[in-house]
Amino acid sequence: MRNFVVALRFTVLFFGINLLSISAPFAEEVEMDMDLMQTIESTNDNLSSNISLENAESAKADAQTLNELFAVVEEHYKKEVAAGNDVAEALDLTKKSIKFSSEIITFLDQKDFESAANTATDLARTCKTCHNFYKED
Ligand code: HEC
Repeated sequence: MRNFVVALRFTVLFFGINLLSISAPFAEEVEMDMDLMQTIESTNDNLSSNISLENAESAKADAQTLNELFAVVEEHYKKEVAAGNDVAEALDLTKKSIKFSSEIITFLDQKDFESAANTATDLARTCKTCHNFYKED
């Protein structure tokens, strides 16, 4: 009986993995590139700490990077919309993220760290809103 359970587990594991690799190519079209999101996540973390440490130059570089990464995300969702997928909300949230990161750069130029921090909080809220919509957890 015990051996049977062990064998069953392997079977489930094996088919589970196969299923993942089969569904991956189909999923690619609609899902966000995970490496891109990981980079967005670490850049966003750096941004928050650089703002709180008042490292204007590093924080500006982070905000600039986020701005460019979200431009890539925007391209992705524009294609999705063109393909007839219902991602209007995501496109809107991406545009918001681009706007927030630009505003952060302006505040940092003015050495207004408080406004930069508040806008960084708005930006982080936008991440969560989009994930609530589209993340498959
Ligand atoms: C316009 C929508 C949108 C915005 C804005 C957005 N994300 Fe995402 N994010 C996604 C989607 C879609 C996924 C993939 C979810 C899935 O398929 O499970 C994802 C996945 C992730 C992941 C998981 C990556 C992995 O390896 O599993 C992280 C981390 C992440 N996002 C961080 C962020 C951070 C930080 C921000 C804000 C600075 C952000 N995201 C903003 C849509 C968005």
